[in-house]
Amino acid sequence: MDDLTTSNLTAHLRAKVYGRSNVILAETASTNDDARRAAVDGVPRGFVVVADAQSRGRGAHGRTWSSPRGTDLYLSIVERLSIEPARVAPLTLAVGLGVSDAVRALAPELDPRVKWPNDVWIGRRKCAGILCEASSTGARMDAIVIGIGLGVNRTEYEGELAESATSLRLAAARTFDRAAVLATVLEHVERWVDRFAAEGPAPVLDALAPRLALRGERVRVDDVEGELLGLAPSGALRVATATAVRELVAGTLRPI
Ligand code: BTN
Repeated sequence: MDDLTTSNLTAHLRAKVYGRSNVILAETASTNDDARRAAVDGVPRGFVVVADAQSRGRGAHGRTWSSPRGTDLYLSIVERLSIEPARVAPLTLAVGLGVSDAVRALAPELDPRVKWPNDVWIGRRKCAGILCEASSTGARMDAIVIGIGLGVNRTEYEGELAESATSLRLAAARTFDRAAVLATVLEHVERWVDRFAAEGPAPVLDALAPRLALRGERVRVDDVEGELLGLAPSGALRVATATAVRELVAGTLRPI
């Protein structure tokens, strides 16, 4: 983990708040769990937990997140937004936009897309996943943990990931300094989360529209099948079925 050190991160860091306080661990179970505990203990907004490997990395829908040592990025940011829990859903899209901007900044030849609701794709392969977990007391949001897993220098994927995953290295045919990638991700994610906090979802959704994976294609979201039209002002996915335009707030999106 030579490239993933606090001093290397500090040398590259351009974010205002994200990553200014941080911990970089050789291994942990899940950085999202560490960040949630740190949030309860009162760490400041923008505190980041990074790990070189995770033994119980978590993905969306209770899936595991493959987290081998030494190649990729596993990070969780403690965010404290004064926003009603009912309005927090588009945050994941803001984070996806930030990660996709970071990929573009690091490798301008790539054309990353946000795949609703929580993936970043390069071509038809997933390079990053986002898991935002909020804790709230009644109408008050205590803290939100923004978890990001990004394939950076990995060259081999096993099982079903062999068909569906990619890394920056595989896509751009060069290796990346993980601390520089981390700093770039923090900068762009902070920018879009700040924008979402200040202005709501509209600017995020506007920027996302031309960068949405599978737009105009035939898709299936659980038991709904149709053409992916885009996103509603709420961040819901708009799908034209044979009989109606549906607005879906959750589900697993797949091309057909
Ligand atoms: C997904 O696409 O299913 C979301 C994956 C989120 C993975 C990241 S890795 C860092 C953080 N810690 C975890 O246990 N999960 C998130």
